[in-house]
Amino acid sequence: ESFDRGKMEDLLKRRFFYDQSFAIYGGVTGQFDYGPMGCALKANMLNLWRSFFIIEEGMSEVDCSVLTPEPVLKASGHVERFADLMVKDLTSGECFRLDHLIKAALEKQAAAKDAKLEFKEKIADILVKLDGMTKDEMGALLKEFKIKSPLTGNDLTEPIEFNLMFSTHIGPTGLIKGFLRPETAQGIFVNFKRLLEFNMGKLPFAAAQIGNAFRNEISPRSGLLRVREFTMAEIEHFCDPNDKSHPKFSDVSDTEVVLYSACDQMDGKSAKIMTIGDAVHLKLVDNETLGYYMARIQAYLLLVGIAKDKLRFRQHMAQEMAHYACDCWDAEALTSYGWVECVGCADRSAYDLTQHTSATGTKLSAEKTLPAPKTVTVTAADSSEHIITKDMLTVKTYEKTVHVEEIIPSVVEPSFGIGRVMYALLEHNFRVRKNDEQRTFLTIPPSVAPLKCAIFPLSANTDFQPKIKQLSSAFRKLDISHRIDDSSGSIGRRYSRTDEIAVPFGVTIDFETLKNSTATLRERDSMEQIRLPVSIGRRPFQGKWPA
Ligand code: GAP
Repeated sequence: ESFDRGKMEDLLKRRFFYDQSFAIYGGVTGQFDYGPMGCALKANMLNLWRSFFIIEEGMSEVDCSVLTPEPVLKASGHVERFADLMVKDLTSGECFRLDHLIKAALEKQAAAKDAKLEFKEKIADILVKLDGMTKDEMGALLKEFKIKSPLTGNDLTEPIEFNLMFSTHIGPTGLIKGFLRPETAQGIFVNFKRLLEFNMGKLPFAAAQIGNAFRNEISPRSGLLRVREFTMAEIEHFCDPNDKSHPKFSDVSDTEVVLYSACDQMDGKSAKIMTIGDAVHLKLVDNETLGYYMARIQAYLLLVGIAKDKLRFRQHMAQEMAHYACDCWDAEALTSYGWVECVGCADRSAYDLTQHTSATGTKLSAEKTLPAPKTVTVTAADSSEHIITKDMLTVKTYEKTVHVEEIIPSVVEPSFGIGRVMYALLEHNFRVRKNDEQRTFLTIPPSVAPLKCAIFPLSANTDFQPKIKQLSSAFRKLDISHRIDDSSGSIGRRYSRTDEIAVPFGVTIDFETLKNSTATLRERDSMEQIRLPVSIGRRPFQGKWPA
């Protein structure tokens, strides 16, 4: 079935899933407001995320400040290195993200009528490697392929590093420089000591945070996919660097995933299907914990409705890796915009805790019990006991038995962009009814669908009112989100309207309901209907849908 993005975007706009922010003022690129349906879908995705990760895995949730003082982001490396490459049109001053510009220009040159096969192959090879290229390599491509400003055809500047953080000043003096956080992760790292205490000093443990992050993207585009303000759901899993075998890796080691390793990308090979266990065994995925989270990320994505055959994990190439990571695998979803990174799963090693320790002098470490007690020689100055001697120049040393050693935990970080996951699942679940081009619908799984049920009175007859009220109040008590559709129009048309907003079930109340208290229950995807007793407050339906 071919996918029609225009048709889907029309539905999402018309039924107010989301729309451009400040639209009546002309809108701002890269900012979106969620309407009632988008809001409910997002809330359901986050609820499921909380139960799937935070509750099921016993993680500690925090909710930290967005406004972040400069020293924190200096220590984390963001002030210096959180930048994308861009070029400017020398005449108009218009800015372009360098990799996007090169990709578009090379694709255009390769698509030209007179382009030779050899040239096309060369371009295809460059495009595969583009993400992993350095500033100088990309600069050289601009020259080699004589790339100009796509707007004016003018010359461009040399590549420039543009820091993506929004800066601000905290307080009225204007003296405290700060930034809107570019990731929620730093809030967790700076609270590490409290979180470790809360977890009784034991490793491993994981902390999670859901909240908005801000990035001054050079060229926001593709709807929800590249925006300047977005919701992240992040997990920082702290573990002993020499023991990455928890949580239970055996539970997920036979999970099949599609992996696209950095070396396969460099060699122009395609992605491979393998189990997480094999990938770890082959040292493709460098540690068990990273593998464990990749399997969990996949399971969550499938639950919310991402199609399995449109999901893969792609490893970052060395140049592409964020400054804090030593390995990173992105869960990518295939959309009409190509493969899109929806979740990053990075090995941040001890980078952040080490950086914040040196910047603040606060030790962000944990104690690890030694297999056997050990005798160490301590100098007086190292110990907490201050020994005052007659001759202060004499350095006192003594022996001490220790049972623990200090370690700086390693961090594995699954980081979800909720808007991107949402966009991908909307594309993967958008359908057109067979033989009826006009009837579009969304097959979003009931667990995350914005509303769970619709109640349809067959007509405007007031006799139906008591039954509708009774059903609606029962749904409310059971916390089942629903909507009563007593609008005019044929019942078929009303079914279509609720299919469009992904309501998975519908109960129709007709004259038979009034006679024998039965109603029809309709399922969205199959459009099957069955008649059932309306047994409010009694046992739920346990039968089977007709095949
Ligand atoms: N703490 C790790 C981190 O920030 P990231 O890969 O930069 O990693 C994580 O971002 C996720 O956030 C991405 O996988 C993506 O889903 C989402 N994301 C990043 N930039 C985004 C943007 N401009 N618009 C929408 N989502 C974005």
